[in-house]
Amino acid sequence: MTDDDLFGCCVTLTDKASLVPWNETLRGFLAHSASTAQSLGDTLKIEPDFALGHTCRGLFSLLLARRELFDTAAQAHAKAVACSTENPVTKRESLYIDALGSWLNGKPGEAVQAMEQVLAKWPHDALAMKMSQAIRFMLGDGPGMRRSLERTVDAYREDHPASGYFMGCHAFALEEAGEYRLAEATGRKGLELAPDDAWGLHAVAHVYDMTGRPQDGLSWLGGKEQAWEHCNNFRYHVWWHIALMHLDLGNFDEVLALYDEKIRSDKTDDYRDIANATSVLMRLEFESVDVGNRWQELAELAAHRTGDNCLAFADLHYLMALCGNNDQEAATLLVGNMEQCHNHRNGCEMSAIISHPGLAAANGLEAFRDQNFENAYHNLIAARPEMQFVGGSHAQRDVFERLTIESAIRAGLGPQARNLLRERDLHRGHRDGYSESRWVVLDSNRMPSRVPDNNDLAAIDVA
Ligand SMILES: [Fe+2]
Repeated sequence: MTDDDLFGCCVTLTDKASLVPWNETLRGFLAHSASTAQSLGDTLKIEPDFALGHTCRGLFSLLLARRELFDTAAQAHAKAVACSTENPVTKRESLYIDALGSWLNGKPGEAVQAMEQVLAKWPHDALAMKMSQAIRFMLGDGPGMRRSLERTVDAYREDHPASGYFMGCHAFALEEAGEYRLAEATGRKGLELAPDDAWGLHAVAHVYDMTGRPQDGLSWLGGKEQAWEHCNNFRYHVWWHIALMHLDLGNFDEVLALYDEKIRSDKTDDYRDIANATSVLMRLEFESVDVGNRWQELAELAAHRTGDNCLAFADLHYLMALCGNNDQEAATLLVGNMEQCHNHRNGCEMSAIISHPGLAAANGLEAFRDQNFENAYHNLIAARPEMQFVGGSHAQRDVFERLTIESAIRAGLGPQARNLLRERDLHRGHRDGYSESRWVVLDSNRMPSRVPDNNDLAAIDVA
């Protein structure tokens, strides 16, 4: 039998009772809810031969960018193929199975295209809408995110059950495109329609980050915990945004408190949690804040992920943890595995990105750790034009922008540091606290006049 899900899309189910947990799965995925996996499990318990359910299990696994979950995803794909052979599925469902197969084959870009084929015929399928954005996010495809949403905007009038979540995705894509005013208005409207949409809520926080308005950001997020407390580990990312706003205001004790009590309240090795943590610690150290032994816990976890090589963004943040803790052996192992990706790309899209710009950025991180700032600068500047392809948002990748600027300043490369800061200011449309403080350094006589050696470092006050 077939039935319609809450978006009006036909699904191949045998028991009507399974529609309830399946719709909960869809709602949960849109809202980044912690309950999503449970809802999908409940669906598959009632409906063990549900091909689309197994496919989503596979896709959700790949979104986590962990090497061991490739096996889980491959098993889910095999099961979905077997189920769809036994009981024919709809064309829409078969496109999801194709998407999973393409990604497992090293082609997430083709998985995105399969989602776009779904949306071309079923633009109201909010699962495909969100999945397209989620994969594009990992590929650093901001322009594609926006195009995808604006092609389907007519299908998400206010009577569509996912209209608020659609606006949340649209707000994020607009923000990444630098359309800050429109992003803010769209995100605010979206949250009215979908009060539990942490993604849309946080898209507006991105606007405040990019436009240097930390106080507005704190006001926006303050008192809205109900929008993200139901979330999976995405809730730690919202706390990360709050910490960044405090950092911009110079409230370093507050940042450290948020780090301990919220951002690292759950000591996972999920790459998104490690990215939140490492990038906060690195930003704090750029401000000469003593972060104590906080790197150690992150490095111990990262040392077990040196062979992941699923996503350049993840590898680079694991490396950041290892460099932060000066764990050279594990860092060398991780970078060596990234080099193997270069040698054995075989058309794998993620390996190609790890190869470039990933490796250059990794070499930059190691050089910065070794206080070889000129070398760090040259590696980071080589990575910089393609850094968006490592994935993540502008706000997340800003740690690499800061790292490049710090490298230039500490290497005594004043004109280069000025150019980088000027570009950063133009992109954001406003100077933030970080930018203001670096212009003070660059406009003063505190720039080192030559490449410093280790004995000079204590004398370089960039705060
Ligand atoms: Fe974010």
